[in-house]
Amino acid sequence: MVVFNLPPDSSVVSPENNTKDTYKIQEDRMSKFLQSNKKKLFITLGIIALVILINLIRNSFAQPEIHPLTKSWEKAVPNQELPQGLASMSAAYCGSCHQQYYEEWKYSTHSHAWTDLQFQAELRKESSPFLCINCHIPLQNQQELIVDGLIDGDIYQPVTRKNPHFDEQLQLEGITCASCHVRNNAVIATHENTRAPHAVVQDADFLSEKLCISCHNASAVVTPSLVCTFETGDEWKAGPYYPEKTCISCHMETMEREIVPGYGEKQSHYHAFPGSGIPKLASETTKGLNGMGIYPSPFNSTAAKMDSIIYKLTLINEFAGHNLPTGDPERFYNITFTLKNEKDSVLANQMERIGEEWQWHPIVEKLSDNNLKPKEERTYTFSYLPLKEEQLKLSVEITKHRLNQENAAYNKLPAEYPLFITIFDKEYTVEVK
Ligand code: HEC
Ligand code: HEC
Ligand code: HEC
Ligand code: HEC
Ligand code: HEC
Repeated sequence: MVVFNLPPDSSVVSPENNTKDTYKIQEDRMSKFLQSNKKKLFITLGIIALVILINLIRNSFAQPEIHPLTKSWEKAVPNQELPQGLASMSAAYCGSCHQQYYEEWKYSTHSHAWTDLQFQAELRKESSPFLCINCHIPLQNQQELIVDGLIDGDIYQPVTRKNPHFDEQLQLEGITCASCHVRNNAVIATHENTRAPHAVVQDADFLSEKLCISCHNASAVVTPSLVCTFETGDEWKAGPYYPEKTCISCHMETMEREIVPGYGEKQSHYHAFPGSGIPKLASETTKGLNGMGIYPSPFNSTAAKMDSIIYKLTLINEFAGHNLPTGDPERFYNITFTLKNEKDSVLANQMERIGEEWQWHPIVEKLSDNNLKPKEERTYTFSYLPLKEEQLKLSVEITKHRLNQENAAYNKLPAEYPLFITIFDKEYTVEVK
């Protein structure tokens, strides 16, 4: 790299004129030695070879070396030609025939994987390398630049050129139909299909949970201060649902319906990709699944003075095939118990958290993790000793968060950006006698 920054001053010894000088000296020495004996000549030739070799090595160090991309997430899916029979690869176009699919996908988190304000905020940070985009807009057609390699293998120094096939519409669609369905210039399907007006190639293995895991499982230390940790795939493989129930059987429900209106019903998969249910836009409601079984203990509406009021709440990761929460390490649940008197003054407050805790600076390190494993259950207990006769109100709330307030502020997300949803909200009154 330094080579490019040298001033064009002849007094500066560049690797080039350095080599020339060395050759000049070598020539003079050679003619002298030629007059001497043969043994000496061989030794000299050896020395010359060594000098040349050293120079070659030195020069190769001075030049930046372009390393090829090696890790899967460093690479985009190579450029795709339009599959035969299609006029565009955009979801809106697929949706002109596969209407229902388009309507479902449009409100999914996948369709927001590029436009999401949090993603865009993080992408703009200097610490975010180019490779961030490869799981959020995976096709090369979706990317403005083509990355040919890395200077000195450094992920912050990609060698780029303009992508002549860049499709802006496709970029905006994030994880679009083509991101999952178009490979080798054809539409991939799990079954053969001869009725489609477009090329269809059957590849059930490609369209299996392996596809989901290719993005939903990354555990890599990119740099000491940048770590990718989405371990949903590993959590699933270590859990009780593997291999019978998969990402697809839980997240893409099977139903009988028409794939294209007028073509008759057949087996189909729901394409809204429901997950946490925390929307990406305040103006949208996002389809979610419920993984958490919530079981409050029976609770008496009367209590005796000087006798503890006890409330137990049992949470079970009952329906998710992985930890709760999973994926992004910033996700968490808050469980809040608040006890108030008749005047609305808070008498007691208890807050529990389910999630991971990370230190991000100066090096990334996981500090704790109490995520609920599949089928794991945990009971939280709230207790209070009433000292006098009065009416009390206990409210119990469970909220599921995408990220916390501080990080939202740090990323300058607008106030209306949805950070959490409430999944349990109960109020109990207790008459203390
Ligand atoms: C001009 C209409 C049209 C467009 C545009 C279109 N398709 Fe299709 N597609 C069809 C029809 C018709 C079928 C066959 C339906 C059937 O067999 O019930 C089909 C079948 C399929 C299948 C195979 C279904 C199976 O049998 O398992 C997939 C997958 C598919 N399309 C995906 C896409 C994707 C992705 C796009 C956009 C890149 C797209 N299609 C664009 C009309 C269209
Ligand atoms: C090309 C990479 C990629 C593939 C393939 C992929 N995903 Fe995703 N998925 C993502 C990204 C990125 C997000 C988050 C987007 C965001 O938050 O803006 C996401 C979000 C989700 C969510 C929503 C999470 C939430 O916030 O509630 C679910 C559920 C999901 N994916 C399931 C699946 C399943 C099931 C498959 C396989 C059929 C799959 N994904 C394939 C990258 C991918
Ligand atoms: C046994 C069914 C089941 C299986 C198998 C399963 N999931 Fe889930 N998943 C769920 C449920 C239920 C939720 C909703 C959890 C909740 O209450 O927020 C969920 C939530 C998610 C979320 C949102 C994050 C969150 O914490 O809510 C992502 C992302 C996700 N799943 C991806 C995957 C991927 C990828 C696979 C395959 C490796 C997979 N899931 C396998 C049932 C399943
Ligand atoms: C995150 C990946 C992903 C995205 C995005 C996606 N699909 Fe699919 N799609 C799948 C998978 C996986 C299957 C096969 C499920 C199976 O057969 O087990 C499938 C199946 C299909 C089928 C065959 C019939 C069926 O339901 O099984 C059609 C048609 C289809 N998708 C159309 C679309 C269209 C149109 C879009 C965009 C609006 C789209 N898909 C977006 C993963 C995706
Ligand atoms: C290996 C694939 C992959 C790479 C590389 C990747 N992401 Fe993601 N990203 C995902 C998946 C999968 C999700 C959804 C996880 C979930 O919701 O559980 C996601 C979600 C996100 C979200 C939304 C978080 C949330 O809670 O909804 C942001 C922001 C994000 N990624 C930023 C980045 C940045 C910045 C980089 C580069 C440093 C990056 N991603 C690189 C796969 C990837």
